[in-house]
Amino acid sequence: MELKGKRIIVTGSARGMGAATVRAYVKAGADVVGMDVMDDMGAEVAAEADGMGPGSASYMHVDIADRASVEASFAAAIEQLGGLDVLAHPAAIQRSSSASDVTDEDWDLMFAVNVRGTMVTNQVAARYMREGGNGGSIINFGSISGQRPEPSAAAYSAAKGAVHSWTRTAAGTWGADRIRVNAILPAMATPMYMEARERSTEAQEEVAYWLNRHSIALGEEYGDPDEDLGPVMVFFASDASGFITGQMVPVDGGQTNVK
Ligand SMILES: NC(=O)c1ccc[n+]([C@@H]2O[C@H](COP(=O)([O-])OP(=O)(O)OC[C@H]3O[C@@H](n4cnc5c(N)ncnc54)[C@H](O)[C@@H]3O)[C@@H](O)[C@H]2O)c1
Repeated sequence: MELKGKRIIVTGSARGMGAATVRAYVKAGADVVGMDVMDDMGAEVAAEADGMGPGSASYMHVDIADRASVEASFAAAIEQLGGLDVLAHPAAIQRSSSASDVTDEDWDLMFAVNVRGTMVTNQVAARYMREGGNGGSIINFGSISGQRPEPSAAAYSAAKGAVHSWTRTAAGTWGADRIRVNAILPAMATPMYMEARERSTEAQEEVAYWLNRHSIALGEEYGDPDEDLGPVMVFFASDASGFITGQMVPVDGGQTNVK
C-alpha cells in the first residue's frame, strides 16, 4: 500500500508498459485513471486492474498529440480523482526510417505524438499539481535511442532526444513547486518491441541482436514490464523518490551503460 491515497494518470495504458504501470499502481493502493487511443483494450486493462485492488482504476480516451483532448480528459480525470499527484507518461509511437529517407509526414507525426504529447501532458499535469500545492511526480519515457545514433529509426531517435532535454528543462522550471520530472529509459518486451522485431529482416535482426540485446548484461533479453518495470514506477510515484528530479533512468538490464 505504498501509494495509498495517490491520485494518478497513466497515459498509454492500453498495453505494454502503460498497462503494467496501471496494474502496479493499483496493487500499491493508488487510484488510477488510464488513458489511451485504443479504447476497448484500455477499458479492459482498467477493469481487470480495478478488480484486483486494493486501489482503483478506470479508463478515459485521450489523444496526447491534441491539446484540446488532453485538457478535456485530464480535467475529467482530475475531477473524478479529486486532484493529481502523479503523471506516468509512457504513451508514444515508434516508426522505422533512415536519416536519408525519413519523410516530412513521418517526422511531423513522430514529433506531434512523442514530443508535443510529452510537452502538453506535462504542462497540463504540472498546472493541476501546482494548484494542489503538494508538488507531484511526472514520469516521462525516453530511450537509449535518444542517447545514441539509431540508423534504422532516425525520427524516433531525434524525438526521444527531445524528450530527454524537455525533461531536464521542465524539472528545472517546476522544481520550486516540488514537482519532480524524470524519464525512464526502458528495455522491455512489449507489443511495441515485438512489432519492431516482426518488421525486421533476418539481416536487421542480426544487427539488432548486436546493437540491442547483446548489451543487456542481465541475460541478453528485454525485461518483463510487470516484474522489472512495475516496482520502479511505484518508486518514482512514491515519496521515497522525493529528492530525485531531472534524471534519465535506464531500466534496461545494463543496456545503456554496461557493455
Ligand atoms: N519497449 C521498449 O523496450 C522501449 C525501449 C525504449 C523506449 N520505450 C518507450 O517506452 C514507452 C512505452 O513503450 P511500450 O513498449 O509500452 O509501447 P506500446 O506500443 O506497447 O504502448 C504504447 C501505448 O501508447 C498508446 N498511444 C500511442 N499514441 C497515442 C496517442 N496519440 N495518445 C494516447 N495514447 C497513445 C498506444 O495505443 C499504446 O497503448 C514509449 O514511450 C516508448 O517509446 C520503449
